[in-house]
Amino acid sequence: TGPILELNNGVKMPALGFGTFASQGSVGETHRAVVCALNAGYRHLDCAWFYQNEAEVGSGIREFISQNPSVTREDIFIVTKVWQHLHEPEEVEWSLKNSLEKLQTPYIDAFLVHWPIAAEKDEHYMPKIGADGKYVIKKDLTENPEPTWRAMEKLYKAGLARAIGVSNWTEKGLESLLKIAEIPPALNQIEIHPFLPNDSLIAYCRSKNIVPVAYSPLGSQDQVPGTGEKVSTNKDLIAIAEKNGASLAQTLIAWGLKRGYAVLPKSSNPSRIFDNAKLINLSEEDFQAINKVAEGRCSRFVNMKDTFGYDVWPEESA
Ligand code: A2P
Repeated sequence: TGPILELNNGVKMPALGFGTFASQGSVGETHRAVVCALNAGYRHLDCAWFYQNEAEVGSGIREFISQNPSVTREDIFIVTKVWQHLHEPEEVEWSLKNSLEKLQTPYIDAFLVHWPIAAEKDEHYMPKIGADGKYVIKKDLTENPEPTWRAMEKLYKAGLARAIGVSNWTEKGLESLLKIAEIPPALNQIEIHPFLPNDSLIAYCRSKNIVPVAYSPLGSQDQVPGTGEKVSTNKDLIAIAEKNGASLAQTLIAWGLKRGYAVLPKSSNPSRIFDNAKLINLSEEDFQAINKVAEGRCSRFVNMKDTFGYDVWPEESA
């Protein structure tokens, strides 16, 4: 379903991906959501070690393939990511191997550095939480990405990851990574929706042959702090969706695809999973009308400063 994007090493990735972060509410929820998504036609699954639901993603994939023998593992583009407390080279390798085991696959299609900061781990191999309730930050990875990135490159060269990339990296961080990278990052997964269009970072990624991937493409369900505004209740966006006889989610997915990057809508509701995979065409006029809504906006819904105790986007909040 949908367009196919080519990465900087020739690997092909379906632009429509299914986000698995939301589906972890109850036992079996992720498994059911993944089976449903594959039935709806998604062939790109976005996962992460941190989501703690990869075993269910893996069992969902197995179930779908066993019921649909014409589909093989190779037909599905699977992404996972390494969390902050696993950034030492041997931990990066452990993280991917642990994810592969849970996902029941011998290789991953793309392996990403989830955030550009490294944190301490505790005795249970989980992120260490300090007395202030926040992560204990070890270092800003963008200052010296080399040890972690070399470990990513090693996994790539070993054939365990078909592509390597990052998530939540700004232009400044990418610049320092590109300076030391032998194998440049293929992807940068960031928050993108009409309230955070991220135009300059997208343009920068493109100029460096890094494919942008949008998380929270539906603008989450959160309110903009201060104004209480929501993407999902924006009158102009709703009017454009109605004009197209489409849902707002379908309209936002079409906008993202037309802007040329990958989008990762997430849902654990079967009818919305199917609805989101029914791609619509957006006219140039409606595309421009959404651009107009997005113009000048910069409202981030995922802000981990409170969790990490560290500002990942200092240059953007300045
Ligand atoms: P649900 O799982 O109940 O469908 P984002 O990816 O932008 O962060 O948004 C995810 C949120 O959007 C989830 O809470 C999800 O809830 C909701 N959502 C997903 N698809 C749709 C849709 N088609 N219509 C309305 N809400 C949706």
